[in-house]
Amino acid sequence: MSNYEKPDFWSLRAQKEGYPARSVYKLQEIDKKFGLLPARPAQINADFRVLELGAAPGSWSLYVLRKFSGRGFLAACDLSPLSHRPDSGLFGGQNFFFKQADIFVAETRAELTALGPFSLILSDAAPATSGGRLVDAARQAELAEAAFLYAHAALKRGGNVCVKIFQGADTTDLIKEIRPLFNTLKTFKPKACRSSSLETYLVGVGFKTLS
Ligand SMILES: C[S@@+](CC[C@H](N)C(=O)[O-])C[C@H]1O[C@@H](n2cnc3c(N)ncnc32)[C@H](O)[C@@H]1O
Repeated sequence: MSNYEKPDFWSLRAQKEGYPARSVYKLQEIDKKFGLLPARPAQINADFRVLELGAAPGSWSLYVLRKFSGRGFLAACDLSPLSHRPDSGLFGGQNFFFKQADIFVAETRAELTALGPFSLILSDAAPATSGGRLVDAARQAELAEAAFLYAHAALKRGGNVCVKIFQGADTTDLIKEIRPLFNTLKTFKPKACRSSSLETYLVGVGFKTLS
């Protein structure tokens, strides 16, 4: 078993680096590979707005805000509250907005999309696991579709997305439908994903419509 596969490797590292969850290393790897966020804070201006769906307990939010270094703007949403324990005050900053709500609700979508347009939309939203693979895969596909509704409504031309999906039939149609909307669209499974898990990420770079 490699270090990456050991169950506590990523959790211990997250604890040490002040993140509430191990999932931060998935975003970090995706960001390094696809350049979702500008590499240096100096390249981030007030127009650089990010929307994050399924944000609790807040590791991805913290990663984005640390990279922002006080610049840019992040709007995040989750059914659950964020964990404020490791946030060093970043969640209280003026460039951060958090909404505790359901992303499927039309009022939530209206409120969040009004905060755009966004340069980047992230969704790590995942259903509470039911134990049944078919049911879980169908719910994950619904969450991914919802994320793309947000993208249709509020992603800037040239913007990027990173959306959690489950590998399988439920997402084949979605991928076909959205492929033409991006310059490149790839699925990518970061090392920090458990190898037994079906989860993977759909990364779209260079949104072609809207302005
Ligand atoms: C894997 S966790 C996200 C972890 C987060 N990226 C982090 O790094 O801390 C998935 C989240 O999706 C949220 N979620 C699931 N369905 C949702 C919905 N309909 N609306 C909003 N959030 C939802 C769950 O509450 C859960 O907190």
